[in-house]
Amino acid sequence: MSHQYLDRLEKVVSQHEEWRLRDCLNLIPAENRGSPQMRAMLSSDFGNRYTAPDRFYRGTRYSDELLSLTEELARKVFNARYADVRPLSGHIANMAVLLSLTKKGDKILSVSPDEGGYPGIARPGLAELLELENLFFPYDHEAVNIDAKEAISLVKSAEPKVILFGASHIVFPQPVKEVGRRASGTVAFDGSHVLGLIAGGEFQDPLREGCSLLYGSTHKSLPGPQGGIILSNNEEVFRAVSGPVFPGVVDNIHLNRVAALAVALLEMIQFGKAYAQAVVKNSQALAKALVAEGVRVRGAAQGYTKSHQVLLDYDAAKLESNAARLEQANIIADNGGRLGTSELTRMGYGIADMGTVAELIAMVVLGRKPIDFVQKRVKSMVRQFQEPKFVLQSVPKILE
Ligand SMILES: Cc1ncc(COP(=O)(O)O)c(C=O)c1O
Repeated sequence: MSHQYLDRLEKVVSQHEEWRLRDCLNLIPAENRGSPQMRAMLSSDFGNRYTAPDRFYRGTRYSDELLSLTEELARKVFNARYADVRPLSGHIANMAVLLSLTKKGDKILSVSPDEGGYPGIARPGLAELLELENLFFPYDHEAVNIDAKEAISLVKSAEPKVILFGASHIVFPQPVKEVGRRASGTVAFDGSHVLGLIAGGEFQDPLREGCSLLYGSTHKSLPGPQGGIILSNNEEVFRAVSGPVFPGVVDNIHLNRVAALAVALLEMIQFGKAYAQAVVKNSQALAKALVAEGVRVRGAAQGYTKSHQVLLDYDAAKLESNAARLEQANIIADNGGRLGTSELTRMGYGIADMGTVAELIAMVVLGRKPIDFVQKRVKSMVRQFQEPKFVLQSVPKILE
């Protein structure tokens, strides 16, 4: 009996890996590919262990060293005085921020989910659970960005308690400096999507643009394990947010994830600049090639993108049907029309390959070729990119 389940389990894991790793173009911007070294850390014994700030658990001498080593690496990568790598995900990091900085009835300002803001912080997500009032940034849909001038007036008149920059659909740096310095509340940046680019110095730099907090997921453009992180240069705000992480939103911190994050951070120290530059160049090349093929892409006036994302320009129903047909052709994207280049870049695709990727997408979106034809071409392309790049070969300088 248990054999049957084991067989099914092994089958589902190997079928998934065979399909998504060997047969698919993975273009979901929330995803990435961990290096073999990072994956090895995920299966280490740390995944069986506990540690806690109240020193309840014994046997933690190496666990505690791991946690402080990883936080030290995070501080270095993001040039931050304070780092907390205990949040289990970007959503949990958002929860820690809002739980500690707001109380019932407070106003928070963020990008509307209708304009690609993260739905988890708006109603019916955290804002509802914490009984907060959601205000949304005035948004310039054409420019795919916050309308800085209007946002300044709103910040001055409404005085939100917390201002959250960042978004799930994000192709351009946001006007953090201009808007943030008019704020009376705490200014924070949810960098879930762009942390890998920030690590490589290829996006904006929220901690030096007036944000008290930079936080988010560690696995989207940052090629780390699924998890969360909080960074700051402001001791008071950091203590306020980090203090309640345990026992408020996290108990077990999943130490194997922390070890895996350390690997990703070391990769960023060694390759962050090159990786982030390659990701952005690939997005720009993909956007241009798609347009040349006749596919509609948002943000033309600003050069389409400065991040790991390219945003297709169709209505919601068309975006959803595109995504379903792309999936049949083994091109994996989301229903929101975002195409991400982080994982392709990690696997060694360069700007020359973006022309082929765009051609394959256009064949499906514009109905130029049968799905089976595209799927065959996708599979043969993906088979050529099976080795992750930007992976540690030697001991990084920091450990010498
Ligand atoms: C901007 C933003 N913040 C937070 C999250 C939640 O991150 P996680 O899935 O790590 O909980 C997302 C999700 O994709 C996101 O886009």
